[in-house]
Amino acid sequence: MATTTSVHGMWTTRLAFILAATGSAVGLGNIWRFPYTAGEYGGGAFVLIYLLCVAAIGIPIMMAEIMLGRRGRQSPINTMRTLAQREGKHPAWQLLGWMGIVTGFLILSFYSVVAGWTMAYTVRSATGVFLNIDTAGADAVFGALTGDAERLLAWHTIFMVMCVFVTARGVAGGLEKAVRFLMPTLFLLLVLLVIYSFSTGSFAKAADYLFTPDFSKLSATAVLSAMGQAFFSLSLGMGAIMIYGSYLHSEASIGGNSLIIAGMDSLVAILAGLAIFPIVFANGMQPEQGSGLVFKVLPITFGSMPGGVLFSTLFFVLLVFAAWTSAISLLEPVVAWLVENLGLSRVRAAVLAGVSVWLLGIACLLSLNEWSDVTIFGKGFLDLFDFLTANILLPLGGLLIAIFSGWVLSRAVSVDELALDEGLTYRLWRVLIRYVAPLAVAVVFVAGLI
Ligand code: PHE
Repeated sequence: MATTTSVHGMWTTRLAFILAATGSAVGLGNIWRFPYTAGEYGGGAFVLIYLLCVAAIGIPIMMAEIMLGRRGRQSPINTMRTLAQREGKHPAWQLLGWMGIVTGFLILSFYSVVAGWTMAYTVRSATGVFLNIDTAGADAVFGALTGDAERLLAWHTIFMVMCVFVTARGVAGGLEKAVRFLMPTLFLLLVLLVIYSFSTGSFAKAADYLFTPDFSKLSATAVLSAMGQAFFSLSLGMGAIMIYGSYLHSEASIGGNSLIIAGMDSLVAILAGLAIFPIVFANGMQPEQGSGLVFKVLPITFGSMPGGVLFSTLFFVLLVFAAWTSAISLLEPVVAWLVENLGLSRVRAAVLAGVSVWLLGIACLLSLNEWSDVTIFGKGFLDLFDFLTANILLPLGGLLIAIFSGWVLSRAVSVDELALDEGLTYRLWRVLIRYVAPLAVAVVFVAGLI
């Protein structure tokens, strides 16, 4: 039988879980990564495939992750081992949890560096650096920041300390307190920003760019990236949502919550696109300029809008918050495991995990400057970790989660945990998790990687 609580603590309410999981999902992936990848792959068709992946693959896998987490009530590694053993299956399923730990380390190492950019931009906003800035000026500010290893290191360090601080304080006292305040504010600001973008001339062009699919631009790599973006944005495939599920009370509906979380996440991504592309087009900028896009575009908007200094400072603060609530979910699975298996205190576990990620992050930030000529498969560490995690490791983790939930876990367990009574919704979920999700991931993989 399922245990009813986790040794690490529990969310105090269902709302707390929704906020935490949405906080994990909504982050740099929506506001930084989505616009620039959509721009790189030509807009509409990419967005359409991304949304399809969220609906047909993302939501069923999210339900599966929450279900497994809540059934196992431990870190992903121990949850997978326990659940496999209860089914009389090989304990090697715990490797899924191990893969998630590695993936989480890799993601957080570059995530923290980019979160550092958002902190640096907060300071620049507040001090009026962006006032009436033009495209060349914005390019220069970005270049100066990413070219300066010391500065990047300082911000990266501060961000990791912030993550360790929250994680060390535990589930209800740290994670939940943080998200309760941060999430609603973030949402409000994004809406204000979209309203502003709407009033600039190129909104229609941006909407057209994002919503009119041009399938001639849709290469196999673009499809792989759209799927990767769906996994990355929904925080799926590495155990973050699984561990958050393990702190969820047994009565809460998994399907309903997953719909809310995925819906909010996609909404924020689309809003971010609608806030950014009008400015791109109004200023004659190129949509395909890579990971600096948002950092080169937003200062221009803010620089010319009334109250821009206040707005941009607030916006970047909130972007820091969004990154923060995602980053703590990347750290939580490994911290829980260190507590369970090595008997470390939560504080020590958080520090140990944080320091390891911090070290790896140094390689990422150096890849932007001192080590810019060190490349593997033509990519520096930051880009490499980004590509490897989003497009390969997360979908692979998701594939295994789908196979485990649909084929290994007994039907009775999933019926019980999802509380769907073998009805139509359950049967739909089961078809998606057994056939659609695994096949889609496998096909996109094979096509995209060749
Ligand atoms: N979903 C987060 C974002 O969009 C990133 C993330 C990925 C968090 C995987 C946890 C796990 O920014």
